[in-house]
Amino acid sequence: MLDKKIAEMLNEQINKELYSAYLYLDFANYYADEGLDGFAHWYEVQAQEERDHALMFRRYLLNNGHRVTFGAIDRPDKVFKVHLDPLKAGAEHERYVTKLITEIYHEAAGQKDYRTMQFLDWFIKEQGEEETNADDMIKKYTLFAGDAKGLYALNQELLGRVYAPSTTGPSV
Ligand code: FEO
Repeated sequence: MLDKKIAEMLNEQINKELYSAYLYLDFANYYADEGLDGFAHWYEVQAQEERDHALMFRRYLLNNGHRVTFGAIDRPDKVFKVHLDPLKAGAEHERYVTKLITEIYHEAAGQKDYRTMQFLDWFIKEQGEEETNADDMIKKYTLFAGDAKGLYALNQELLGRVYAPSTTGPSV
């Protein structure tokens, strides 16, 4: 049986991951409107991964005998002026999610809830990758998208991102 506070934090994380999916779809909406279908596609795939994360937390709670409850998902409210803005917002958001995961881990460690710590190990590693990917997007944009030709080439590269459901997700 999971501790009440830990279960609440895990339940709340479902909402945060679904918000992440919503946020990244909002980025995709912006890029689609700007004619950058590669950037839009990249964030559509990212949104699919975030939904997967939400489902992993949901499954963990259900498998541990907990009722899952859903709250309202916040409205993404960022206004983008230039193409770099969503990339920066994405990197900032991933650091925020890392902080949330770390807080749950901290609580689980304090309560010697080794099962939840083991479940969260996958997310700790995943967040490292998510932050790196987000930072790489900024680096690539800054390096290569300085002119129309470079922006076109980067857009084409991002079109190639393939959604692959995680087969090595956390143990639940
Ligand atoms: Fe589910 Fe991008 O963290």
